Amino acid sequence: MRDLFDKIYKDKGPLGKWAAHAEGYFVFPKLEGEISNRMKFQGKDVITWSINDYLGLANHPEVRKVDAEAAAQYGSAYPMGARMMSGHTELHEQLQNELAEFVSKESAYLLNFGYQGIMSTIDALVGKDDVIVYDVDTHACIIDGVRLHPGKRFTYMHNDIESLEKNLQRATKMAETTGGGILVISEGVFGMRGEQGRLKEIVALKQKYNFRFLVDDAHGFGTLGKTGAGAGEEQGVQDDIDVYFATFAKSLASTGAFIAGDKEIVDYLKYNLRSQMFAKSLQMQLVVGALKRLDMLRSMPELKNKLWENTNALQSGLKSRGFDIGTTQSCVTPVYLNGSIPEAMALVKDLRENHGIFCSIVVYPVIPKGLILLRLIPTATHTLEDVELTLNAFEAIRERLENGTYKRMSASIMAAMGE
Ligand SMILES: Cc1ncc(COP(=O)(O)O)c(C=O)c1O
Repeated sequence: MRDLFDKIYKDKGPLGKWAAHAEGYFVFPKLEGEISNRMKFQGKDVITWSINDYLGLANHPEVRKVDAEAAAQYGSAYPMGARMMSGHTELHEQLQNELAEFVSKESAYLLNFGYQGIMSTIDALVGKDDVIVYDVDTHACIIDGVRLHPGKRFTYMHNDIESLEKNLQRATKMAETTGGGILVISEGVFGMRGEQGRLKEIVALKQKYNFRFLVDDAHGFGTLGKTGAGAGEEQGVQDDIDVYFATFAKSLASTGAFIAGDKEIVDYLKYNLRSQMFAKSLQMQLVVGALKRLDMLRSMPELKNKLWENTNALQSGLKSRGFDIGTTQSCVTPVYLNGSIPEAMALVKDLRENHGIFCSIVVYPVIPKGLILLRLIPTATHTLEDVELTLNAFEAIRERLENGTYKRMSASIMAAMGE
C-alpha cells in the first residue's frame, strides 16, 4: 500500500507542473487598485480584460455607497444561520421576488454561491431513475453536479443538436425502462468560447421528447436580451426554460446567485438544496447590494449599451485584422493563436510588460494542445481608446509569435522544465 500523498509528491497535474514558472504571474496573479478598465499588475498600469464586471457596477459610486452603508448597518454576520433555521429576512424575500419578476419566472430562490448552488439544484432535481443529458462543454459546476447523480447521464457534443437528439433518444429509452424523467442542461453563454447555447433549438425538441430544461446563464444575465434578462430573453424562449440559473458574480459584480422557475418547483428546491439548507444564509450586505445592482441593471440600459459598443468595437477590430475569434455570440471574446505553452507564457509576458494589456490565457488541457486562447472580457468601463491600444498590441504580439521570437524566448523556460 502507498501513502495517499505519494502521487501528489510525484505528479502535480497538467497545470500544477507549471506552477514554479506560472504562479503569481500567469496563474494567481494579483491585480491591484480599484476594479475598472485600468488596474495595476506588479506595479505597472494595465488595461484589464479579465474581469467579468460586464456592466461596470463593481466600482460604481452608487454601488459602493450602498455596499458600505449595508456593511455599516448590518455588519457581515447578519443574518446568522441557514435560511431554513434562522437566516431568513424580508430583504432576502424581496430580492427573490424582484429577481423572479426580472427574469419572467413565478418564483426565485437565492444561492450563496453559484457553484455549489447549481450542483445542489442538479442533485435535487434528479433521482436514481432519472437521466441527465448535458452539453460536453459545460462549466465545472455542472459537471460536478452531474457527478452527484446516482443514475445515468449522457453528454452531447458541444451545441450539436443532432448529437443532443441522438442522446435524447437513448435517454428516453433508458427512462422508459427505469420509469424516470430527463433533465437537459446547457449554458446560456459558454464562458470560454462565448457561443450562446442553442436554447431555441433545444426547446423545440420538447415537441418530440419529454424533458425538463436547466440553463446556466452566468454570462448571459445582464448582457443579453432586450432588458438584460439573458440568453432566454435574447432567443425568445425564456418561458420554455424550466429552471433558470444566474450568478451575481458577473454582471451584478458581487457574490451569490439564484435559480428561478415555476413556484412549485422553486418551493421544492428551497426544501431540497443541500448546499443551501446546511449553509449560512447570504449575508445582508450582499442581499442589499444585489437589490441595488438589480435596480441599476433595470433602470440604466446605457450600461449594457456601452458594454456592447465596446464589445462590437473589439470584436470587429480583431476580425478585420485577421484574428480568429471563433464563433462568439456574446461579449466573451476569445482570440485563438497557435503555439506551445512556453510560447504562450512569453507572449503574455510581452503583452503585460511591454503593451500594458492584461487578459486571461487558457492553454492545454482546457483547450487542445498547440492552441493558445487569450480571453478578453469587455466591460462598460472600457473606452474605445482601450480597444484601439489593445488591437495594436495584438498585432504586435502576433507578428512576434509568427517570426519565432517567443519560441526563442521560451527556450529557457523549456530548459528549466527539462522538456
Ligand atoms: C457558467 C458558470 N456557472 C457557474 C459559475 C459559478 O458561479 P459563482 O461564482 O457564483 O460560484 C460560474 C463562475 O462564476 C460560471 O462561469
